[in-house]
Amino acid sequence: MTGDLFGEPLATPGQREALGAQACVLRGFAGADVPALLQALERVLQPAPWRHMTTPGGFTMSAAQTNCGPLGWVSDRRGYRYAAWDPLSGQPWPAIPPAFERLARDAAAAAGFQGFEPDACLVNRYVPGARLSLHQDKDETDYEHPIVSVSLGMPAVFLWGGRERADKAARVPLFHGDVVVWGGVDRLRFHGVLPLKPVPHPLLGEQRINLTLRRAG
Ligand code: SIN
Ligand code: FE2
Repeated sequence: MTGDLFGEPLATPGQREALGAQACVLRGFAGADVPALLQALERVLQPAPWRHMTTPGGFTMSAAQTNCGPLGWVSDRRGYRYAAWDPLSGQPWPAIPPAFERLARDAAAAAGFQGFEPDACLVNRYVPGARLSLHQDKDETDYEHPIVSVSLGMPAVFLWGGRERADKAARVPLFHGDVVVWGGVDRLRFHGVLPLKPVPHPLLGEQRINLTLRRAG
């Protein structure tokens, strides 16, 4: 399950690693879809470019972000929330590309969650040193739907915690093409990303891109 020095996965694509009763890593699940995902992401970035959001506490997030879908996750001095408009452009967020939607539905089904229809996709971009501190995904209206999280580019160490912030977090290496799905009893598990190491990826260079698909509204 661990990768080699160059960040290439050693796990067999299609391998399913349990992280909890209703959470798992689907190794290499995005594999064949990667070119379509990256092409679609380019089209999302034209109207909705990367930006660094501010936390309610006044810090600038180290990961750059954007969104697609009817709803987008935003953070500023007023708090965290979902919004139908991109605060940068004043326009609705671009639609979720079909390739994103299909992958999310298929990965959710493979993890035991049938009929997942995301209405929000947060896209995170990490460069070396960027991180995401331990948090729960809890700005959504209800927690019935799973979270589907796609990793592309540089490898990262995903922190997989418990239901309380203080619970010990497991360190799960994630590689290009891996998809993590969590829902049900594991829906509110704390999670985060350790500061990225500079391990350039053959396709994406010194960046890691994460697509987080959710049912927010
Ligand atoms: C997130 O929790 O929003 C992103 C997790 C990741 O980048 O893997
Ligand atoms: Fe999250």
